[in-house]
Amino acid sequence: MQMNTKIIDMDENSIDINKMKSAADIIKKGGLVAFPTETVYGLGANALDEDAVKKIFLAKGRPQDNPLIVHVADFNIENFVEEVPDIARTLMNKFWPGPLTIILKKSKLIPDTTSAGLDSVGIRMPKNKIALNLIKLSGCPIAAPSANISGRPSPTVISRCIEDLDGKVDCIIGGDKSNVGVESTVIDCTADIPCVLRPGGVTLEMLQEVNKDIYIDPAVMGKSIGNIKPKAPGMKYKHYAPKAQVRIIMGQTEKTVEKINKMVQNYRGVKVGVMCTDETKEMYNCDEIISLGSRKDLASVAQNLFEVLRSFDDIGVDIVLSEAFEERGIGIAIMNRLKKSAAFDIIKI
Ligand code: TXA
Ligand code: MG
Repeated sequence: MQMNTKIIDMDENSIDINKMKSAADIIKKGGLVAFPTETVYGLGANALDEDAVKKIFLAKGRPQDNPLIVHVADFNIENFVEEVPDIARTLMNKFWPGPLTIILKKSKLIPDTTSAGLDSVGIRMPKNKIALNLIKLSGCPIAAPSANISGRPSPTVISRCIEDLDGKVDCIIGGDKSNVGVESTVIDCTADIPCVLRPGGVTLEMLQEVNKDIYIDPAVMGKSIGNIKPKAPGMKYKHYAPKAQVRIIMGQTEKTVEKINKMVQNYRGVKVGVMCTDETKEMYNCDEIISLGSRKDLASVAQNLFEVLRSFDDIGVDIVLSEAFEERGIGIAIMNRLKKSAAFDIIKI
């Protein structure tokens, strides 16, 4: 069903309260509102309203066994969870508002549709002022997955939300380009030792400063290790994929450039693009070259990643050959998304 989507432009630093109230009214009435967060744009509905949440799954074409993150604007989350263990409280105090989603045992208030039938729920307080305002004015926690059609790279600018969701949701609020660019870190705090289910803006190194035993779910980085399944249901799906086929070339810089140039030459009858870095962008012989930014600033590489993947689709490239990044700091999240977008097609040289 095609609907009339209201587009609201908003400046995070001078929020128009009346416009925000009109968006909050939509949430209150069980509608869908896409909004900016510091990680990526989210598609929100009242997390406590089963019918509203169902509409999110429909609009995105999202598999129903993939739980939604519940966004809050308040540290009092006791109503939504069975208990808040000390480690979770410490992590909240240190990283909220910010790109950290904490998984806890859910209370009865959280409908099964929101948690996709799991007995746990992921909760996060976003850092963006528009997002926080929307949650406060709505008077309820907001369930929000990334505001893309399922499987596509998450939107980090309003134009990509419009591209994916115009006519499918009630309202899209635009702000600036998302700061972090990759989704929040998801950490499971239901066990004694917290485990990272999805790497993101809060890095493993930052988490280990709080508790050195925090680790990353071994199923996260690899295609699949034996029969270990990822604990975050969303991590098993094809994800972050542009229409083009993505291939990662991993190795020492000069050899990578040489290999990619050779591959570009060998492809016939297909349009090839190279996804590279500022340090190497002059070294390629290819019509379509886009840099993700400098290797010295991996935060900006993370910020640009999804937008660059989508730009290759705009150009109509069939194959994207990408450089790889060191799996350290935010590089872990970058490589996690990149590997998924490439369906684990990695050429090691
Ligand atoms: O940065 C973000 O987290 C963005 C913005 C909008 O806040 N949201 C986001 O939501 O990325 P989504 O739905 O695209 O990804 C949620 C991820 C999925 O991999 C899902 O399986 C996992 O979190 N997840 C959510 N609740 C979970 C739970 N109770 N147990 C395990 N994994 C969970
Ligand atoms: Mg998503």
